[in-house]
Amino acid sequence: MKALITAGGRGTRLRPLTHTHNKHLIPIANKPMLAYAIEAVRDAGIKEIGIVTNADNQDVQTAFGSGKEYGVKITYIPQSAPLGLAHVVKISQSFIKDEPFIFYLGDNMLVGGVAKFIEEFKANKSNCHLTLAKVKDPERFGVPELKGGRIISIEEKPKKPKSDYAVAGIYLYDESIFEAVNAIKPSARGELEISDAHQYLLSKKKKVTYSEITGWWKDTGKPYDLLEANRLVLENQESMILGKVDDASHLSGKIVIGKGSKIINSVLRGPLIIGENCVIEDAYIGPFTSIYDSTVVKRSEIEFSIVLKDCRIEDVGIRIEESLLGNDVQIVSASKKPKTNRFMLGDQSRVEVV
Ligand code: TTP
Repeated sequence: MKALITAGGRGTRLRPLTHTHNKHLIPIANKPMLAYAIEAVRDAGIKEIGIVTNADNQDVQTAFGSGKEYGVKITYIPQSAPLGLAHVVKISQSFIKDEPFIFYLGDNMLVGGVAKFIEEFKANKSNCHLTLAKVKDPERFGVPELKGGRIISIEEKPKKPKSDYAVAGIYLYDESIFEAVNAIKPSARGELEISDAHQYLLSKKKKVTYSEITGWWKDTGKPYDLLEANRLVLENQESMILGKVDDASHLSGKIVIGKGSKIINSVLRGPLIIGENCVIEDAYIGPFTSIYDSTVVKRSEIEFSIVLKDCRIEDVGIRIEESLLGNDVQIVSASKKPKTNRFMLGDQSRVEVV
């Protein structure tokens, strides 16, 4: 069995971060999102992974290389443009050949791994095995219609969903899927929709089965989803302090501090992670916060946030919460007169002031 993982797309809902970062490289608990997908399929025993990336960018290749570090062999499959998930499958046929495979959307995060879905797919001798999760907003997803424990139809982003389930981004297929993705036509939004491929399989009486995801699953398309995914991973981490913490600081909960980091006269309330070579001074870092390498936080408070590399947060009077900061971002007190708010924000930045 092989795995096919997505790492392309536009990431429009995560702009401005995705102007400069591939969404799948954004760190969750200081590890790129895509690493969780790679580890999930590897832990289910799969060694050969195809990763689909945007053809005009090599960042994913640079970050993951041959896959040796993860104990897998990665083949990169360039996609000329984000033409849909069924298009991703279509262009990957020469990599998959006629083997069964797991198709895993690289922006999905899941607790509990994927081995049990693979077992169900094999035990049922299915042509296609889907994973379904109960959601509050099914109209954002592919939605199945269920009857007597079977899927009878699937619609992509329906206005009137026929169930409160979403088809999650973990699918198992045999070679029948290639007939489907080659037969369907682009949707009104110009994409080859994976839901249309599933509907095609149903219409050809192929065996489409499913497992329900009862544990935590997240499609991290939007900023708040990233914070939630970050919260979940931090909740399950073990403490490890490699940096220096002075006697005036107070730490509680599960805390990871990378080497070269200094914690001075600060309160850290986990779960949280601080990367390497950071300086946290006269500060409060609250639960569910991830701070990446070489960032400085002084005389400021922050919680439930993700902060990337080389940031500077200094003398900010009000606690920062529910925030996502990219690389080299500065939030500092206005020292010059007149004392006003000054912004220098890239396209599609979002600021909420009180
Ligand atoms: P989406 O979240 O549907 O799309 P997106 O990542 O482009 O984000 P947005 O809607 O905010 O613009 O994509 C799901 C996953 O599939 C994600 O890992 C990106 C990937 N993808 C591709 O690799 N190629 C594609 O053609 C599409 C549509 C998505």
